[in-house]
Amino acid sequence: MSFKIGIIGCGSIGNVHARNASKAGLEIAGTWDVKVDRAETLSDLHEGCITHPSIDELLASDVDAVAVAVPNNVHKDCAVAALEAGKHVLLEKPMAISVAECDELIAARDRSGRVLQVGFVCRGLPTAHAAKQFIDAGRFGEIYHVKCSLYRRRGIPGLGGWFTDKSLSGGGPLIDIGVHVLDLAMHLTDNHEPVRASGHVVSKFGSPIKDYRYTNMWSGPPKLDGVFDVEDGAVALVRFANQMTLELNVTWAANVPEGVLPNGMTVLGTKAGCYFELFGDKVQIATEEEGMIADVSPHFVTTDSHDDAWARQYAQFIAAVRDGVAPHATGEDGRCVQSLIEAIYASSDAGHEVAID
Ligand SMILES: NC(=O)c1ccc[n+]([C@@H]2O[C@H](COP(=O)([O-])OP(=O)(O)OC[C@H]3O[C@@H](n4cnc5c(N)ncnc54)[C@H](O)[C@@H]3O)[C@@H](O)[C@H]2O)c1
Repeated sequence: MSFKIGIIGCGSIGNVHARNASKAGLEIAGTWDVKVDRAETLSDLHEGCITHPSIDELLASDVDAVAVAVPNNVHKDCAVAALEAGKHVLLEKPMAISVAECDELIAARDRSGRVLQVGFVCRGLPTAHAAKQFIDAGRFGEIYHVKCSLYRRRGIPGLGGWFTDKSLSGGGPLIDIGVHVLDLAMHLTDNHEPVRASGHVVSKFGSPIKDYRYTNMWSGPPKLDGVFDVEDGAVALVRFANQMTLELNVTWAANVPEGVLPNGMTVLGTKAGCYFELFGDKVQIATEEEGMIADVSPHFVTTDSHDDAWARQYAQFIAAVRDGVAPHATGEDGRCVQSLIEAIYASSDAGHEVAID
């Protein structure tokens, strides 16, 4: 069964949603954006797609589902409105900009009986998918530590725009890209019980905006009269109820040599451990077999890790809507990540470890 989907927010990722929803067999039936020309441009790419003048009109149309790809501060209002209109929702990450907003979203989902899937697309990366198979098969034993890092040398998105204005984004790289690896770490280990966090965030490169040196910019160019009041780097240590620990390093900008520091995930267990680059094409597993130290490297075929991840995300959303299977990432998963993020910011402000809600 195919169904109709509408796109709310037709910027960079709204276009990626439309492309991948279409590839997955969905009909792109409607668009809406506060910038009408963006919605029209996207509609023009899809036969029969209607550009709506308001979100209300899109939600009153016959779309079965929507992808919400607007700035973070309007995730909650757009997604709640969609659920209340009876639409299934694939909501971009981060789920919202506060735990309280996540709670409102979960309540709206429960009232509506519709699917709410959070866009933690990195779960579908070929490397992550392969590692998960081994972990779920019990090959790692007790997992006691996860280390995740994403280092960008000069990767502040849309400097001076909504990404770097805390009132619109909720924060810097921690909430923008940190969410991906925090979710992935908890997903891989099936451990969603963080209890304490110690974090520190820094802001060293984004201000003053005119002094930032870069080669290219997602959502750029910079707005010289814009706002930069978020962090551009974050570090954290998280403790889980079962004593597992998680170490996080994430930067939008840092003086890091290219290609030297890992953009990936290390998972340590008593029977095996692994390392993989998030967007890479191999997972290296270190283990013991027949009394000997052994290396295992599962084979999997991938032509483009991003395409594969998006295909998995949409396949799971379609299965959730059509067959009632669990979504790729639930509202509870999104809330858990948000509670971690809030704790890391609170710890950084307080200067000491804090308990997690
Ligand atoms: N999954 C990923 O890997 C990934 C990558 C980038 C961004 N994102 C997420 O996608 C969302 C959008 O990011 P983007 O890079 O596409 O940003 P963008 O700025 O390119 O696009 C956002 C769009 O939303 C529109 N918009 C702004 N305010 C709005 C409002 N109040 N109502 C409706 N539309 C509004 C803008 O006009 C713009 O077209 C963010 O939540 C971001 O975190 C996810």
